[in-house]
Formats: sequence, C-alpha cells, structure tokens
Amino acid sequence: MKIPAVKGTRDFYPKEMAVHNFIVDGWKAASRRSGFEEFDGPIFEYLQMYQVKSGDEIVEQLFHLTDRGGRELAIRPEITPTLARMVNQQVNALPRPIKWFSVPRLCRAERPQKGRLREFFQWNIDIIGEESTLADAEVIFCAIDYLRSTGLTDKDIVSKISSRKLLAALLRNLGIAEDKLTVLYPILDKKSKIPAEAFDEMLRKEVTDTAAADTILKLMELHTVDAISGLVDLNDDARAALSELQDLFGILGAMGVGAYCRFDMSIVRGLAYYTGMVFEMHDTVGNLRAVCGGGRYDNLLRDFGGPAITAVGMGMGDCVLEILLREKGILKDDTLATKKLDYFIAVAEPTLADKAVELAAIIRLAGFCCEFPYKTGGLGKQLKQASGYNVSRTIILGQEFVNENKLVVKNMATGQQEQIAADDFVSSLKSAC
Ligand code: HAM
Repeated sequence: MKIPAVKGTRDFYPKEMAVHNFIVDGWKAASRRSGFEEFDGPIFEYLQMYQVKSGDEIVEQLFHLTDRGGRELAIRPEITPTLARMVNQQVNALPRPIKWFSVPRLCRAERPQKGRLREFFQWNIDIIGEESTLADAEVIFCAIDYLRSTGLTDKDIVSKISSRKLLAALLRNLGIAEDKLTVLYPILDKKSKIPAEAFDEMLRKEVTDTAAADTILKLMELHTVDAISGLVDLNDDARAALSELQDLFGILGAMGVGAYCRFDMSIVRGLAYYTGMVFEMHDTVGNLRAVCGGGRYDNLLRDFGGPAITAVGMGMGDCVLEILLREKGILKDDTLATKKLDYFIAVAEPTLADKAVELAAIIRLAGFCCEFPYKTGGLGKQLKQASGYNVSRTIILGQEFVNENKLVVKNMATGQQEQIAADDFVSSLKSAC
C-alpha cells in the first residue's frame, strides 16, 4: 500500500534541504547582525493558548488534539504566544530589552495555495520590554536587512506600514463603538485578499452608517500620512499615533532603508493582539501574499498573566520568500550544493582499499569532510564520482604510496597534482585544525 504525503506538507529531499538551509542560515545571520539571541519552545501547547488572543482566523486553522490524559492541545500555528509564556515564566530574571529570534516549524490547517501551506517554517524576531519607536524600526530594519542580503532591492520588495493605534483613533472618531474595533480589524485586513464587492459587503454588514463605511473605504486607500487629515478630523489620539509613525519613518530613513518603506492604511493585520505599529512586506508587483508581517503587541504578556511589558516583532514564512527568490533568479536549483567535501580518496591500487578507510578516518577526526569509495572500480570512475560530490581535493592512493609512502593530491578546481609524503600530509592536517 502506497501512502502519499499529507496535502499542504513538503518533503525535503537533499536539494530542497539545501534551499531550506540557505534561507534559514540567512535568517539567523541577519538576526545576529542586529543582536537577537535564538530561542525555541515546544511544538504543541495547550489549545487555550491560541484561543486567548490570536484571533478567530488562527483558531479556525488549528490542528488540535486531545492527549491520553484528556488535555486539549494544539500544534503551534505561531510562536508569539509561546514567547509570551516563556518570557512571563522568567520575567524577573531576564535582562531587558529581550531581543530573541526563532525559526519554528508551524502548522495551520489552511487551504493550500500559492505561498500558503499547512506546514511551514517562520522566522520570528521580537523585542520585549522596549516601548520606544526605535524597537519598531529595528524589527523592520532587520527584516529588510535579511531580504537585502539575498539580493532583493527596493524595486522588488516594499514594507507597508500603518498603525492600529491610528486606525482605532480614526474609527472611534467615526462613531465606531469600542467593542466593534476588534471585530473590524480582521475584516479590514481582508481588503487586499478578497474581491472588492465581497469586502464592501462584509464592511457594511458591520458598519451600518453609510457615511462612516464610505470614509473607512477611502481611508483604506491612503498611502500618505498627510492625506489623512484631508479626509477626517484628527483627535489627540490620532495626532499622537501619526507623530509616532512619522518618527518611525524618520528612523528608518536614518537607517538607510527608507526607500523600502511606505505608509499604507490598508495594513491592519489579522491577528487580534496588535496594539500599535503594524507592517507587512510584499513583492512590489503585488502578485504574492505577504512575505512577512508583524507589529507592536503591548498587551499580550499581560493577557497571559504576566506584567504589562511592551513588545514588538514580526514573522516571515519560507514559502512566499522562496517563490520570490526564484522569480527574481536569486535562487536556482543548481546553485546550491547538497554536499561539499574537502577530500575524496580514490583508490588506484585495490590492495590499498583498507588504507583509504584509515586515512579517511584520520582526515575526519582532524575536522575535515572526507569520503572514500565503498567499491574500488577504475580510477576514472572514482574521479568522476569525486567531481559529482563537489570535492576540493582528491587524494589518489596508488603505486607512489606502495613504493614511497606518498599520496597524490589533486586540486579538483585547477586539475594540478602534487605528491606529498603521507606523514607530512597527516601532520599538515593536525596543524590546520
Ligand atoms: P502572520 O501574519 O500570521 O503573523 O504570519 C507571518 C508570516 O508567516 C506571513 O507573512 C507568511 O510569510 C507566513 N505564513 C503564515 N501562514 C502561512 C502558511 N499557511 N503557509 C506559509 N507561510 C505562512 C504571525 O504569525 C505573527 N505571530 C508574527 C509576529 C511575531 N508578530 C509579532 N511577532
């Protein structure tokens, strides 16, 4: 019986693993460049963890299970609640600001589509305990720094930034009741994801005042901070939120990434816990779902029973990113090696097969990558095998070894060969490590 892989999951053969490692290594390097430390948590948590503050969309997409003790659990669809739980657990022992990153494997029971699977990896960076706009800027900067390090430019990607604080102040000004705000956020977040008529209908179902709904629709189209005051009256809260956004754009400009960033009122984010700045990064053509998304979530730690500590962060999945890197020609299947050896030992004299095994072990113990053939066929075949393995040097064990205890070392890039006394070669390995 053949059992297929589950829909929306991926098998990582060595080729796919090389791509995965290329992405993850870049994420980790960018995190470290900005001073983040790595953490991880369990792959399942109590179901309740995600029912508290993640929002209905995430709850609908949970893979949940009941364990033998009757406990209701869920496979993690995101790591932010785990982060909040972990920080709360050791809150007095952790020096602040806490700057942590993680690359969890996550599961969401979404309908698989381009860039969205049911199992994926997501790079997270979060800063906890720093309320200044500098922390918001640093999160956005770090995401851009990574994307830029792959070769993507401001022609390829854009960071669309807005503020839930600003949106809340404007909605309140339009007479929207406080308890309606959290209902409206996930609806407004759908604007660019569903057809305009469907969005219009959803909005007007919640906002029955026609003039208010019309203004909200116009607000969602705004791409400059100045245009807001031309459309609606600004109260003190809205002015304060606008001033925070202006500071943020100022810092991002000073950090040299201003060209990647623009204000976009339609960025609301689906998750329920955001309280301030929110952002998403998209391909500039606008063909793909968001590459990443995040924002400020100042109440989540408190909502999970901890102290009121501010936080800001973002998550970037590997699926849309990989599509984009391929579309831009940055990622090509044949550019990433699945295997890289410092040495391959070819056996020209079949009686030396055991010596090849011994020498390979010495080379490996000295810290180098090395392989030997299991079967000693013709030398030509072995050299061909070596070039397929992406080898720097091939050591040929032949008559020179039998007669003079010498190795023939072939540089696979230049084709040059030299003879080295076996003892000298082994000593050189030891001095190199
Ligand atoms: P999110 O917007 O739900 O935020 O996800 C962030 C990113 O994860 C998306 O932009 C996308 O790249 C990727 N992603 C989400 N769902 C899928 C999927 N089904 N398949 C592939 N990729 C996906 C969060 O998860 C927040 N916890 C991020 C955050 C961290 N906010 C603050 N700190």
